[in-house]
Amino acid sequence: MSSMASLLLLFVLLSVSLRTTESQIGVCYGLLGNNLPSPPEVINLYNSHNIRRMRIYDPNQSVLQALSGSNIELMLGVPNSDLQYVASSRDNARDWVRRNVVNFPSVKFRYIAVGNEVKPTDGTLAPLVHPALTNIHEAVAFHGLKDQIKVSTSVDTTMIGVDFPPSQGAFKGDVRAYIDPIIGFLVAINAPLLVNVYPYFSYSGNPRDISLAYALFTSSGTVVQDGSNGYQNLFDAIVDVMYSALEKAGGATVEIVISETGWPSNGAFGATFDNARTYYTNMVSHAPHGTPKRPGRAIETYLFAMFDENNKEPELEKNFGVFYPNQQPKYNLNFNSIQQGFESV
Ligand SMILES: *[C@@H]1O[C@H](CO)[C@@H](O)[C@H](O)[C@H]1NC(C)=O
Repeated sequence: MSSMASLLLLFVLLSVSLRTTESQIGVCYGLLGNNLPSPPEVINLYNSHNIRRMRIYDPNQSVLQALSGSNIELMLGVPNSDLQYVASSRDNARDWVRRNVVNFPSVKFRYIAVGNEVKPTDGTLAPLVHPALTNIHEAVAFHGLKDQIKVSTSVDTTMIGVDFPPSQGAFKGDVRAYIDPIIGFLVAINAPLLVNVYPYFSYSGNPRDISLAYALFTSSGTVVQDGSNGYQNLFDAIVDVMYSALEKAGGATVEIVISETGWPSNGAFGATFDNARTYYTNMVSHAPHGTPKRPGRAIETYLFAMFDENNKEPELEKNFGVFYPNQQPKYNLNFNSIQQGFESV
């Protein structure tokens, strides 16, 4: 009887720990290759490697079909080319959500990312993001899905004006008119900001001041001391710069989800197979630990990308895959390993 009870207790403890630490790593599934596996094959590949989350960039109907019943949690993009349509009326946004979300009741939608890396200076697209965001959120609520699906937008880090030290992080002054209303909306609907984070580009743009080890999570100790926070890797520094910038723009309660991060294996300075393997491997093992500003809080992270995509330009953009198009893994990544759950019991 007592061994039965302790078994039961063990089971409860394990399920609690697995629930809290499993599934923080997703992978972005881009389609810009002419030699990629079919969507059902791709879903099987995610499942066979225990990749529990996926980001896609547009509502491709064959991909959504293949995802049905799969249990993979999805970040679905409203592509920039659809922003005009969904921003222009509530009916359009309801229609978009009906066709691409409601029509797929057995897909586990987690986020809708309204726009990707829209530049605040883009006079055509930038004014559309806030109305598109509010209309899509209204449509999600209209269809009764607002408790399941968070609505946000995906940004890059070029909006940052002050990036050192992380505690001083701030948006550029001329970005505030664009980003402040978006942040205000995210606060109101309790949604995260989706951020694409690339230590690779910081390093390759400034290898004199940024060491490769700092960019690859391999520094032996603290590289940047910022008050009581020590930074051993550039990824954490970039994320905390964004947290500081959010705080200064009224978004202290907004979480950050990493909607892309990756390192190319070829095609430009610093883009080697070994560097890429080191980056992805260390990124996956780092994600559960959080950043100095949010210690112990697992960072939900989507690796960019699933496959090498041969239709992309320039050359380095073809080399961000964590799998080859023939479905062989490029690196030996341990996505969402169960050990992470045991360790933190
Ligand atoms: C959707 O994805 C499939 C499979 O990758 C592709 O063949 C098709 O062209 C895509 N459809 C659209 C509209 O992009």
